Amino acid sequence: MEIKDQHGRTFKTLRISLTNLCNFGCVYCVNSDDKGEVNEVNSSPLLHLDYNVLAEYVILLHKVLNFESVRLTGGEPMLYQNLIPFIHILSSNGIKSIKMTTNGFSLKQKAEALAAAGVKDINVSLDAVDPDVFRAVAKRNFLKQVLDGIEAAQHNGISVKLNAVIMRGLNENQILPLLDYAISKNIAIRYLELMRMGHFYSKNFNENFFPMKEIITAISTKYTLHPYNYRNPSATAQIFQLENGFEFGIIANESEPFCSDCDRLRLDSSGNIYGCLSEEKSEYIGGIVHDEVKLSEKLMEALKHKQPLKFKGSPLKMISIGG
Ligand code: 5AD
Ligand code: SF4
Repeated sequence: MEIKDQHGRTFKTLRISLTNLCNFGCVYCVNSDDKGEVNEVNSSPLLHLDYNVLAEYVILLHKVLNFESVRLTGGEPMLYQNLIPFIHILSSNGIKSIKMTTNGFSLKQKAEALAAAGVKDINVSLDAVDPDVFRAVAKRNFLKQVLDGIEAAQHNGISVKLNAVIMRGLNENQILPLLDYAISKNIAIRYLELMRMGHFYSKNFNENFFPMKEIITAISTKYTLHPYNYRNPSATAQIFQLENGFEFGIIANESEPFCSDCDRLRLDSSGNIYGCLSEEKSEYIGGIVHDEVKLSEKLMEALKHKQPLKFKGSPLKMISIGG
């Protein structure tokens, strides 16, 4: 069965949410009403499948879909107990491109093992380079650990990208300092518009939203931007170039939607697949994962959940399903 919808979309990349736990409390992800104090782990734990079983699900999905890449997310994927053995199983079963999105807290300790297990690309969430602003966003005082983690990853030959969610009145003053930091370290950076998810689905979105247009305006106060910008097929980021040749991206869910060629499938650590972040519904693949026909039917169901054009938001929590 060909897994394709009427817009020609299929699943080419898989994002696996390994845990819904996190040791940070980023305000765009964790509701400040339930954020907890420093060093507390956010969220209550999901029931995880054994890592061997989860890896088997991924391999069986890969057999049907032949993914171009697999990205490990969370919550915070580094809190997943069997992270390294899990990655080893994937990489020794033909999954070539294994990436990760992390808050960077444990990167310094784990960079070497991750590189050895086959991880080549890591996205690190970095929303501020000022320690006070960092703390205001992440609710943790861990800027130094994250910066050290980025350095360790680069040192181990891992390609690093920075993700910075910009929120009005919170960290818009970090747009330029983040860019200066990225340029000085020669690291790719992408700014993200706030997504209408979780606690922002029904309230407080508009006042916190900071649009792409204003991100560009902030950058233009210091740098000249090349007028040409583009988005690669199925990519999320609109790419801009500075006159000095440095490129940066903006992931603009609202201003520059990218649903029309989305190729992402999500899997959580309990065995549920999600075709779209805008749709709360998931399909449980446990029990049928060995049956290629039934698995294909579930994938077709998940594909139907994708929006035609524009992300409409959802009450799904990013901490459970991953960025
Ligand atoms: N809006 C935009 N991005 C978000 N992330 C989490 N929650 C949101 C949100 N509401 C993304 C961030 C973070 C990644 C793990 O998920 O980019 O770096
Ligand atoms: Fe944790 Fe990432 Fe959510 Fe921040 S965005 S609270 S680091 S899962």
